Formats: sequence, structure tokens, C-alpha cells
Amino acid sequence: MPLFEWTPRLSVGVDKIDAEHRCIGELLNELNKLQNKPSHHGECVQLIDGLIVQIRSHFSTEERYFTEYEYENADEHRVEHERLLAQLDKSRQEIKCGECAGLKLARYLHVWLTTHILVADKAYVEFFRRMNIR
Ligand SMILES: [Fe+2]
Ligand SMILES: [Fe+2]
Repeated sequence: MPLFEWTPRLSVGVDKIDAEHRCIGELLNELNKLQNKPSHHGECVQLIDGLIVQIRSHFSTEERYFTEYEYENADEHRVEHERLLAQLDKSRQEIKCGECAGLKLARYLHVWLTTHILVADKAYVEFFRRMNIR
């Protein structure tokens, strides 16, 4: 069973953002699946690097909208993004140093992503709708 499963309740009503959330979710599933394979360290590091690129790019998408449309809760939302990126940098360092913590990271990110979409991202849905962003 995949770790991340897309459901309509995760939608924020903006196609580009939904697609990015799904893409991050798919990468989490790959990272999770990889852990059943022996000697997967190299692949694991590669996947995590790809995941970080995807997450950074997704945060930039949201933050560009925040700036362009002067979203009122942008600052606190950005703080959540920055905290996760700092955490990811730390995890990436640990993984490079030997121990493959891919499974732990996949599970952590799954909880983080789902909670973040349902709380912080959902909080801009009404505002984005008013601004006609879709
Ligand atoms: Fe966000
Ligand atoms: Fe998001």
C-alpha cells in the first residue's frame, strides 16, 4: 500500500499546486518502496535530493502567489516552509554521513505534507479563490 494517497479532500483548488503536491507524494512513495531493496543507499540519496528540489520549487510556487496577491498570512506560512527546509538540510547531511534514514524521512515527510496541506495550505484556499487563482 502506498504511503501517500491522493484524495480530493487534499485539493486546494489550484491545478498547479495540486499537481505539485501529488508529485511530492509520489516521490515519498518511491522513497518508502525503496527501503525494501538491499543496498539502496545511492538511490536513496538521489531520491532525497530530487525530493528536496521538488519541495523547494513547490514552496517557491506558493510563495510567488503570496507575494503577487499580498496574502495576509504569508509570513507564518513561509516560516513553516523554512523550518521544513532546514530540517531537510539536516537530514540530508546525516544521510550523506552513512546511515540511510530514508524510511524515517519518508514517514516524517508524509505526516508533515498531509498536515501542512490540510492546515496551512487549506488556509489560503478561500483567499486564492477570491483572487481568481486556479
Ligand atoms: Fe505551503
Ligand atoms: Fe503546499
